[in-house]
Parts: sequence; C-alpha cells; structure tokens
Amino acid sequence: MALIALLAGDGIGPEVTHEARRVLEALDLGHTFESAPVGGAAYRQTSHPLPPETLALAKRADAILFGAVGDPEMDGLERALRPEQAILGLRKALGLFANLRPAKMFPGLEDASALRPEVARAIDMVIVRELTGDVYFGDKGRSITHTGLREGHDLMRYDEVEVARIVRVGFEMAQRRKRILTSVDKANVLETSQLWREVVNEIALDYPEVKLTHMYVDNAAMQLVRNPGAFDVIVTGNLFGDILSDQASMCVGSIGMLPSASLNEWQGTCGLYEPIHGSAPDIAGQGKANPCAAILSAAMLLRHSLADEASAQRIEAAVIAAIAGGARTPDLGGTHSTAAMGDAVLAALQ
Ligand code: NAD
Ligand code: IPM
Ligand code: MN
Repeated sequence: MALIALLAGDGIGPEVTHEARRVLEALDLGHTFESAPVGGAAYRQTSHPLPPETLALAKRADAILFGAVGDPEMDGLERALRPEQAILGLRKALGLFANLRPAKMFPGLEDASALRPEVARAIDMVIVRELTGDVYFGDKGRSITHTGLREGHDLMRYDEVEVARIVRVGFEMAQRRKRILTSVDKANVLETSQLWREVVNEIALDYPEVKLTHMYVDNAAMQLVRNPGAFDVIVTGNLFGDILSDQASMCVGSIGMLPSASLNEWQGTCGLYEPIHGSAPDIAGQGKANPCAAILSAAMLLRHSLADEASAQRIEAAVIAAIAGGARTPDLGGTHSTAAMGDAVLAALQ
C-alpha cells in the first residue's frame, strides 16, 4: 500500500486529475491519496506557489500525481511567485532529471492526427527529456546595456555529469525497445550542445547494439512531421524536449493524450507523473479537457514508482479500448465531456 500525493493545481489540472484518481480507485489497489495545493491555487491560499507543506507531502509520498499549474491572472507576478515555479521547484527539489514522454498512435485515432493517417500510423516513440538543467535553471537576469537598453539573459549550461546521466537513460530505454536512439542538439551553434554530443559519443561505446544518430533540433522538428515512425527513442535537453514533445503530441492526435514520468534515477522509485499539457485556461471549467494524458500518467506511476506493471497495462488497455470504442473529447473531434471520457475508460476497465 502506497501514499500517492495528489497535486492537482490550476485550470484543467483538477478536472483531469479527478478522472485519473477515479481510475486508480477503481483498481482497488489499496493506495491512499493525500492532496495539497500547488501553483496558482496555492498562491491564492498561502502567497506561495509551492508551500512547504506541499513540498513535504511530495517528499513523503511514494509517488506524485500532478495536474497542471499556470494562471493567466498571475502572469504579472515576479518569476519566483509564478505558478510555474511550483513544478520547476518540485523537479529541482526532488532531483527529477529524467522525463519520459511516450508518444504512441492509438488504434483508431489516426483521423485526429495533424498528419496524414498513413504517416501517423507508425508513431511509437519515447522522448527522454533532461529536466533539471539547461537554460531553465542557468543564471537569469535583467540589466541595462551601456546604451540604456533593457536586456535579459538566461544562461544555457550543462556539465558532463548532467548530460551523461540523462543520455544513459536514453540508451537504456533504446536498449529495451527498437535500439534506435536519436540525440537531438544544436551542436552547429551551441557550446553546450558540443559538450552534449561529445558525452553521447563516449557513452555510446557502452551500447554497441544501439543505432545512434545525432540530429540538429531544427531538422528533428521537420523529421517529426515528415516521418515520425522512424523515431524510437529521442534524448535531448530540457528546452528542446519541451518543444518537441508538444509537437509530437499533435502527431498522435492531441496534447491531451501524452503522459509523462519524471524520475530521479533510471527506473527509480521517486517519481512525479503529469500530463505534458498545461492548465489550458481557454477550456478550464467547461468539462472539455481530455483526461487521457492524466489517466495514462497514473499508469506510468504504477509502472515506475509502484512496480505494478500489470495494473499499468490494465489502465493503458482501458484507454485504448475506450478510444477504439469511439470515446472522443472535443480535442479529438468528439463530444465526450471530461467525465464521460473518464466513464468510458472506467467501463473498459471492468
Ligand atoms: P496548454 O498545454 O495549457 O494549452 C495549449 C492548448 O492545448 C490550449 O488550446 C488547450 O486548450 C489545449 N489543451 C491542453 N491540454 C488539453 C487537454 N487535456 N484536453 C484538451 N485540450 C487541451 O499550454 P498553454 O496554453 O501554453 O499554457 C497554459 C498555462 O499552463 C500556462 O500558464 C503555462 O505556463 C502552463 N503550463 C503548465 C504545465 C505544467 O504544469 N507542467 C505545462 C505546460 C504549460
Ligand atoms: C511542461 C511545461 C513546463 C516546462 C513549464 C510550465 C515550466 O511546459 O511541463 O512541459 O517548460 O517544463
Ligand atoms: Mn511544455
């Protein structure tokens, strides 16, 4: 029996997390849930997006099921108090450097893809995104130039240990799949990317069975829509992985379909699980959000943090069956509400 921290957050976060919790409860695994405020919701209550009690719960729990944070009304707040600092702070505080973002075409969903069905059909990839470094966490600041102009900077940096540990996750993942690894960087321009490439080539010596390709991020963005079926595992830095995973989501039909796991070691126990999407303020409160990404994140939680592969597969099979049975939220071209989509998954679970 495990303790699952429920950090639902803002906008559609609580709506989709609610459905994921219903699915977990239906499996009757005996896990307990404890909720805490996070993001804009926490700021409203406590004047901080990541209150100490919430962080303490996250540390105490066996796993974290996270919704989304972000609130347009708080866009004017100083950066340290913005809702987004909650998820960035959790990732950093828990050392969750490895973010797994699988993107797989679901049978019957080809029509929802932004790509032609024959191109979309073959998609089955995992984006392994570094999550605690890069331009996200480098030195930031504002200054005034000598000519009196306002200036901002964000330092892009990685050290070799930070690169090596995420690259190993990429190789290990590829080893267990189709043994094709694409490392995405911008080594034709960036020094950090040159270091990245060097380290990838060094680690590649330990994985002779894996077919490694280096690809520039601009080309990768293009290849993702040209021939996404050619990718197996992509390993990349924090910023490139953020952008490419949103793009990959539309290749399989919707950003509402992509789950993620954020881990502090390969197959590690400490994990945070969340859809890759945000709080979607444009549809929040309307019952339109697709809960599948959150439900599939719950499956990843069972797999990676609770070593319950069988239950994870049951949830994934139920989502596949619900989709195959025609359940579709508006983002997939259908009329199911968030709750109706959850109901369809629950029905398929029985
Ligand atoms: P978003 O992912 O919230 O929404 C982008 C678009 O996708 C919107 O049109 C939205 O309606 C749609 N969408 C997203 N999830 C959906 C779902 N489950 N079902 C149907 N449609 C869905 O990105 P954004 O609009 O750029 O950001 C909104 C807020 O969320 C911002 O404050 C941003 O910082 C935050 N954000 C948070 C996270 C996170 O908590 N990890 C991730 C991304 C964005
Ligand atoms: C994500 C989000 C976050 C990120 C934001 C909200 C900080 O876009 O989880 O993909 O950029 O990592
Ligand atoms: Mn993102």
